[in-house]
Amino acid sequence: MEKRFATLSVDSSPETLVCPFAEHSKPASLNSSTSRSESPTATERSHTPLHSASSHTDYEPPMQCPIFTQEVDPLLIKTSLEDRVAYLTDFLGFTSRDAELISKIAPTVNEVIPSMVDGMYAKMFEFDITKKIFLTRNQGFDGPLPQTLEELTLDSAQIVFRKVFMKAWARRVLTADYRNGKTWAYMDKVGIMHTGASPFKHQRTMGIAPLNVPYRDIALMLGWVQSALHSAILNIPDTTVSAADKIEAVVAINKVLWIQNDLFSRHYIGD
Ligand code: HEM
Repeated sequence: MEKRFATLSVDSSPETLVCPFAEHSKPASLNSSTSRSESPTATERSHTPLHSASSHTDYEPPMQCPIFTQEVDPLLIKTSLEDRVAYLTDFLGFTSRDAELISKIAPTVNEVIPSMVDGMYAKMFEFDITKKIFLTRNQGFDGPLPQTLEELTLDSAQIVFRKVFMKAWARRVLTADYRNGKTWAYMDKVGIMHTGASPFKHQRTMGIAPLNVPYRDIALMLGWVQSALHSAILNIPDTTVSAADKIEAVVAINKVLWIQNDLFSRHYIGD
């Protein structure tokens, strides 16, 4: 413990390692409630962030020294999605308050989902490297398929079909039950399915060639979606959702998108 404080010490004497924020430390009761020494079960850990007492908009540097350091098993968070999500939500401070804020803006933001998804496809069609991925046949689609990039248009039957799935994803982000592990499992499968594997049952039963999308383009698309959702939230009239709630909702959506980002990237980089 003393060693950890060493880097924060304002005392020039190497013997006296003093926490400069000692006076501002959390009350003992708060610290003990978050201590991992009691080894909560994986389920308890995965739900903890949603019940956390911490303010999810508190981004000031913490005026306290770390009282404990959570132990995270790097191997376990590779193999157990539940533990991985517990780590992600703890790290980002994703709480029930975030889920509440997302529900608050969902009815209004839902209205922009069709145009946002149109925008996503328009963006992916701007570049040959992203557009060409849509020349391959999609899961469950048996209609006519264009053969060249020029033939492939935003109103091609396959693209209209694909947009249904993308809208379902976007709606799920806005309306999901974030206490339910199935929500994260779905997001994880969405990640896996872009890396050459077929995690969804409907994909496997149809036996269609796997999809390989470079992570580079996934990250860019997520960045684009983030901008679109943030501006949709901030454009909600103050009379519908207060300015303060909109700011919190932007933060909340940001966390979800970064969790989805990890649930993509982990399947590419293997961390
Ligand atoms: C924000 C990033 C992205 C998200 C959230 C996303 C989400 C999804 C979802 C939800 C599906 C359908 C899953 C299902 O079958 O239920 C899907 C399929 C697909 N995605 Fe993505 N995607 C993203 C980025 C990309 C990018 C950048 C490309 C290509 C440049 C791409 C290409 C495809 C293709 C071709 C399919 C169809 C696979 C098939 O049905 O055969 N995606 N994506």
